[in-house]
Formats: sequence, C-alpha cells, structure tokens
Amino acid sequence: MNTFPQLPDGFTALITGASSGLGAEMARQVATEARVLILVARRLDRLGVLKEELTLQHPDLHVYLCQVDLNDPKSIEQLLDYLKDKSIAVDFLINNAGLGDLGTFQSSDWPRVRSMLLVNIEALTALTHALLPGMLRRGKGAILNVASTAGFLPLPTFAVYGATKAYVCSFSEALAVELRQSGVTVTSLCPGPVSTEFGEVATRPNSRRKFAPVKALYVPAVQVVREALDGVRRRKVRVIPGGLVRAGALFLEFIPTPVKRFFLRWADRFSGPEKPVGK
Ligand SMILES: NC(=O)c1ccc[n+]([C@@H]2O[C@H](COP(=O)([O-])OP(=O)(O)OC[C@H]3O[C@@H](n4cnc5c(N)ncnc54)[C@H](OP(=O)(O)O)[C@@H]3O)[C@@H](O)[C@H]2O)c1
Repeated sequence: MNTFPQLPDGFTALITGASSGLGAEMARQVATEARVLILVARRLDRLGVLKEELTLQHPDLHVYLCQVDLNDPKSIEQLLDYLKDKSIAVDFLINNAGLGDLGTFQSSDWPRVRSMLLVNIEALTALTHALLPGMLRRGKGAILNVASTAGFLPLPTFAVYGATKAYVCSFSEALAVELRQSGVTVTSLCPGPVSTEFGEVATRPNSRRKFAPVKALYVPAVQVVREALDGVRRRKVRVIPGGLVRAGALFLEFIPTPVKRFFLRWADRFSGPEKPVGK
C-alpha cells in the first residue's frame, strides 16, 4: 500500500548512497511501498547484498543497481542516460549520499574537499535538476535531500562539511516554496549524529581527531529514516529526527551570531592543533 499522498501507486524511488548507513535503511523502509528501486553508490558488492535482502522480502519489487561515482559528472550523466534508455521515471528522489572531513581547513587535502563539494552539493543539485521536470510533468513527486544539523552552525574543524549541508538546507527550503503548488514536495532531513560509516569516512588517516559527538545525541538510523519518511508523507519541509536533537536545533536558532561566534572561539581553544598520530 502506498501511504505517500504525493506519489503514484507503484512508485519508483532512486536512492543515492544506498550501500550503507542511512541510504541502505531508506531502501529497506521505502521497499515496503515502492514497485521499483534504483540503488546508487560506488560499492556494487554492497548494493548486490542489499538487493538480495530486499527482493527476498518483497518478491514483486524491481531493484536496479547503478554503480556511480558522484564525484564524476560523467558518471552522473551515464546514470541519467541509463534511466532514459530504460524509460524509468523517478517519482521519489532521495539525495542521501554524502561525506565529511574532520580537521582544520588549512590542513585539508584538496581532492577530499572537492569531493564534498561534488557529492554533497553538485551531484544532489544535478540529480534534482535532471529528475524534477519529469515529476512536474506528471504532477506528482517527492524529493528528500539529506542535510545535517551541521548545516545550522558554522563548525570549526568541519567547516566545509557544515557549509555543504547549509547549502542543502537553503536549497531545499527555497525549492519547496517554488514547488508548493506543483504536486511535488521537497523535504530536507537534518539528522544529528547517527551510528553509520560516516564518522570513520570523515576521519583523516593518522589523525588524532575523531568523530565523537555527545552519546546522548545519537539517534538510531531506523528512527531517523522513519521520521524522515513520515515527514515526506506529511509534506514537511524540514525534518530533525530525535527529540533532544530537535530541541537543541531550535535553541540554536534563537542564539544571535555574535554569541555563537564567542562560544565557537571558546570551544576551539580546547580542540588543539592538528597532530598526526605518532608525531
Ligand atoms: N551519520 C551521521 O552522523 C550523519 C549525520 C547527519 C547527516 N548525515 C548525512 O547522511 C547521509 C548518509 O550518510 P551515512 O551516515 O549513512 O554515512 P555512510 O554510511 O558513510 O554512507 C554514505 C553513503 O554515501 C555514498 N557515497 C559517498 N561518496 C560517494 C560517491 N563519490 N559516489 C557515490 N556514492 C557515494 C557511500 O557509498 P559508496 O562508498 O559505496 O560509494 C555510502 O553509501 C550523508 O549525506 C551524511 O552527510 C550523516
């Protein structure tokens, strides 16, 4: 049964970053209502295992696996050509793939920074740009963009990541207004910390700096995705999963920038210089 009012029955969903974490969980939860899933990531073996799991549980579900490097605009074009060749119309676009880089900007590697810009911003925007016209023609559709609470606050030692997620929040809010009478909804998902591969990927090799948010703020991936999909059903523009994280995010909105700046400077004094392990 389809419980998404803005999606046709037997809808098709495309999920980027479906090979792990939130993306894989999105696939599991969306699979109960979709007829076709297009799973996108670089690790095809992981996608294959997920496909087996999903088709075992939902024998009527069609799952297409697309090995795409979202760092590479050509790879994105090939994905779009593939969808065209197969006449696949995407009704639900879930822009979930993303990565972080933990450490000061001055000590960052450019390829890594560029990858965050390409995956977190450019690929998300390119897929939205390419797939939105079809949704508008059909008068139905949903876009779920995965941002982060990191997008609400400038974050020293996570500067570019936070800025890419601020882009996703801003872009999604504006697009939701533009599309308000089109039948297509836009939702941004702003989770706090979730236990996935994200922290490991964001940690630089040999760095002492670890992804270590306050434990009480963690929300399980299953709950994050459940709240996100409920938000899409209710045509919510922004979803912040978890009561404590939501309260914290609301609190942040009321703090004036100079006060935030003061506390960020104060906290940064304790973060110490960038020291590789063993030096
Ligand atoms: N976990 C958290 O604490 C947290 C909090 C707030 C927001 N988020 C956001 O949630 C989203 C999902 O992250 P996660 O927590 O599930 O982390 P994750 O387990 O590391 O998953 C990231 C996914 O993105 C894909 N990806 C990364 N680079 C890619 C590329 N160049 N091309 C194609 N796919 C790529 C990865 O697939 P391959 O490596 O197989 O390509 C993987 O499936 C991200 O946008 C992240 O910023 C996470």
